[in-house]
Amino acid sequence: MTKTENQMLIIFGASGDLTARKLVPALFRLFQENQLPKNFVVLGVSRSYMTDDEFRKKVVSGNEYLKGNHSVDDALVSEFAKKFFYEDVGTEYDTDYKDLEERITTLNAKYKTGENYMYYLSTPPSLYEAIAKNLYGQQLNRSRGVGFKRIIVEKPFGYDLESAKQLNKGLQRYFKESQIYRIDHYLGKETVQNLLVTRFANSIFEPLWNRNYIDRVEITNAESGGVGLRGGYYDGSGALRDMFQNHLLQIVSLIVMEPPIDANAQEIRNEKVKALRSLRIMYDEKTLSEHTIRAQYVSSKIDGKVVNGYREEEGVNPESTTETYAAIKFFVDNWRWKDVPFYVRTAKRMPTKVTEVVIHFKAPHHQIFKDAGMFNKDNKLIIRIQPDEGILIKFGVKVPGQGFKVERANLDFYYSSLVDTSIMEAYERLLLDAMQGDATLYARADEVEAAWEFVDPILKYWKNGKDVRVYGYSAGAWGPENADALIAGDGLWRNPGPNLADDPGFCVIY
Ligand code: BG6
Repeated sequence: MTKTENQMLIIFGASGDLTARKLVPALFRLFQENQLPKNFVVLGVSRSYMTDDEFRKKVVSGNEYLKGNHSVDDALVSEFAKKFFYEDVGTEYDTDYKDLEERITTLNAKYKTGENYMYYLSTPPSLYEAIAKNLYGQQLNRSRGVGFKRIIVEKPFGYDLESAKQLNKGLQRYFKESQIYRIDHYLGKETVQNLLVTRFANSIFEPLWNRNYIDRVEITNAESGGVGLRGGYYDGSGALRDMFQNHLLQIVSLIVMEPPIDANAQEIRNEKVKALRSLRIMYDEKTLSEHTIRAQYVSSKIDGKVVNGYREEEGVNPESTTETYAAIKFFVDNWRWKDVPFYVRTAKRMPTKVTEVVIHFKAPHHQIFKDAGMFNKDNKLIIRIQPDEGILIKFGVKVPGQGFKVERANLDFYYSSLVDTSIMEAYERLLLDAMQGDATLYARADEVEAAWEFVDPILKYWKNGKDVRVYGYSAGAWGPENADALIAGDGLWRNPGPNLADDPGFCVIY
């Protein structure tokens, strides 16, 4: 096990939802698993006044998300709570951090955290630069000979290419790139990391992983929920910014990338950037209109209950044109992927919550079983990111009896079969990595910018293009009717069910 040095985690925006919902439960699991260093302190920073005890109550003892589904000893929770402290910065984050510096120094001396400080910015991105500047003002960005200083930032990392560049510049003015950790929780998912292992720790997939054998790549990210209480944020964002630019392009980069020299952060991230830069950027309106679709869910009945349409959701403009569904077709301009179409879609209020990657292989070059009905029976490799995590290969087998009738059979692996292994949750894994200084699963500045370069023209087209439509789809359906037009010629979308082995066409009738 890699050693985690003693340290202090300083969370800005500590009274917000993310701290209670994700960060503290992840820290608690690390605490239960004995993964936290011996000397470890959390200092919550926010604008409202709170005592240490009030903060502990808010994010630890009174936190409904802390224990998840597990039963936990109260004594353990009290022990954990002792690690938490709180400091307010007054009414503004953009202020002199003298008091904060004193508090950090005092806690460091008392709890011997070795001047190792990790700042977690769980605030709106508009505050990132100001916080970085004020930390710098107190020399809290510098190692001063001892201790590391790292800064983790949450998404959204930019609203478009220009703002992402500004954010990068703003942070890099006060912290070195090697100190900056941009979190993308999809990279913390075991199954997303397993894309690398599937490809590069086996000799049976990589020889086929190219245009000679792969017909198309399909990625579906569906959520059954709507925007819930996040309408205000989401309406200024939309599916393309919220999911595609970050999480889904991260998955794409892992599928597209060339084998890195080794598994260190620099090599892997270099290859990912190269992969993202090889996505063919769409500029002309004709391509953009044929290769992109956006849509919004409209009110419908799910399980007998009427659910709101997007425009009726709290915080959403009743005339909003923000997309809750986005489907994009694109190509990758390099030797490996020339002419292989990629189809990626993401949406809210779909029939089920699922994320999966489907690699569709080409039909055998020469078909000898001519009457086998091979149509639509291509070999598929399905990599299931969530739920029912696993991998499924679909291949042809002979139907018993005379002649050569071919049917598809499944060869599968399920993570749940690894009974002895407890799978770390995304935030738990990512926090531990950052504590240990491993940035492999964090996005680098050039990676984020490369992703925006691809997304920017689509957003501009959707905003200013001629006759660009926002289609409607009934909440609980697999998107708008014309999403099929996008993939037409290459078959149909594989509409997955909640279980990996379910075949398309799954639906709940009763
Ligand atoms: C977040 C998006 O980044 O990811 C949310 O802002 C989305 O809109 C969520 O619901 C999905 O994450 P997961 O891990 O549940 O697939």
